[in-house]
Amino acid sequence: MNRFVMGVMTTLAGLAAIGAGVVMTGAVSVAADEPHSEPVHQLLALARSRAVGSEAADIDVPPLDDAAGIRRGAGNYAAMCATCHLQPGSGPTELSAGLYPAPPDLSTAAPDPARAFWIIKHGIKASGMPAWGTSMSDAYLWDMVAFLQRLPAMSPEDYLAEVAASDGHAHGGGEHMMEDHQPVAEDDHHAGAPGAHDGAADHHAPAQSPQAAAVAPAPPTHIHPDGKRHEH
Ligand code: HEC
Repeated sequence: MNRFVMGVMTTLAGLAAIGAGVVMTGAVSVAADEPHSEPVHQLLALARSRAVGSEAADIDVPPLDDAAGIRRGAGNYAAMCATCHLQPGSGPTELSAGLYPAPPDLSTAAPDPARAFWIIKHGIKASGMPAWGTSMSDAYLWDMVAFLQRLPAMSPEDYLAEVAASDGHAHGGGEHMMEDHQPVAEDDHHAGAPGAHDGAADHHAPAQSPQAAAVAPAPPTHIHPDGKRHEH
């Protein structure tokens, strides 16, 4: 038995030494454009899923149907998340295409609310997903969780109208006075989608605040040396 234990320990020590040697030669790729091998990918995905699942198990999900909260969520999503997680009809962006692990396309599938809340609040290590809880209070994070439940059902016009009707980037950090916000009547911006969108965009034009600019529905474009146009 003792010889068996010694054998196992020697084998483990040998494997650890080989692993350390491989690491020290610099052979482990950290390039974002070289995917993990399938076993490593599966292991990391399992670790992430188990970790988030156990953290999220104790989270009580509040009601997610408050229209004003969903609209605030839309403004914050457009300002802080859409470049990575996309918006209806946008297709990939440079960030979504270049990041590894790739940000999930949240415009097509709604995440589980409790898990989404935990991930938005704490972020995911060694991925592009930031911990938004360092700058935003829980209420604003729940607004985005609520918005994410609606997003996959939104047309591009619905989305832009909801963002335009929002206060833009707002999370109680002194960047905007939420108390002053009078939400637009619920039906105004959903009736006749395309026209409603233009009207809502105009409604924001005179505001001239950096927040309003950050969610302007017509994103700035830039042109690459190869002549390709990109919208952000
Ligand atoms: C710089 C890019 C980037 C930004 C900005 C970003 N995320 Fe993420 N997000 C990611 C990446 C990458 C992942 C996947 C991480 C992983 O799989 O390990 C992720 C994962 C998520 C997930 C988990 C989705 C799922 O189905 O597993 C949610 C929810 C999420 N982000 C919400 C948000 C919200 C809300 C915002 C804005 C407040 C945001 N993210 C901003 C990159 C980003």
